[in-house]
Amino acid sequence: MENIPTNTITEQAEKQLVLLKKRRSTVNFSEKSVQEEELKMLFEAARWSASSRNEQPWRFIVATKNQPEAYQKILNGINEHNRVWAHNAPVLILTFAKSNVAETSMPNNHSWHDVGLAIGNMSAQATAMDIYLHQMGGILPKEIYNTFDIPEEFEVVSAIALGYLGDEDKLDPRFEARENKERVRKPLDEFVFGTSWGEGKF
Ligand SMILES: Cc1cc2nc3c(=O)[nH]c(=O)nc-3n(C[C@H](O)[C@H](O)[C@H](O)COP(=O)(O)O)c2cc1C
Repeated sequence: MENIPTNTITEQAEKQLVLLKKRRSTVNFSEKSVQEEELKMLFEAARWSASSRNEQPWRFIVATKNQPEAYQKILNGINEHNRVWAHNAPVLILTFAKSNVAETSMPNNHSWHDVGLAIGNMSAQATAMDIYLHQMGGILPKEIYNTFDIPEEFEVVSAIALGYLGDEDKLDPRFEARENKERVRKPLDEFVFGTSWGEGKF
């Protein structure tokens, strides 16, 4: 077949990619609250994620600054390194994965993968709403299991700080370098291979 160049990339597709690139893990959260219906929409995006066997193994504990007690409980489960900036976020979330398959009780080897997928969808939806997520692996699982009554088959995966971007001029100087650091990524040819391993496809 003749190789006819086609303009298959639509404007919509370009815009989507711009949005995905706009996402970043800020440490500069605004005090502006995230409304209940906005928060619900983010979880609706998570809800429609793909998952192995449609197990939907994700679970979330969520608290906003308007619920100081619940908010503090989540904050206590975040390590010190992250707590210094995360305490400014109007919303904190803990994420969990169900470690076994409902039907067979066998281990679900994709549960963490699928939790990540759900958070990915949530992040994309959030970016479209000018809301930013900062995921944290730096959590204190023991503290979390001691504080919350988590059923045995669930594992804590991560925490998320979520909110609108804060004003640049209000940023704590301790975090300036970090917030303004250039975002870097490996080039495609380092991780997408063609006919043999290590041979970049693009
Ligand atoms: C699973 C996971 C765990 C992370 N843990 C932390 C963390 O504990 N503390 C932190 O400051 N950032 C954490 N991050 C954020 C990453 O450092 C960040 O995504 C990465 O540097 C790329 O930057 P970007 O998200 O702004 O593109 C985590 C991200 C993911 C996906």
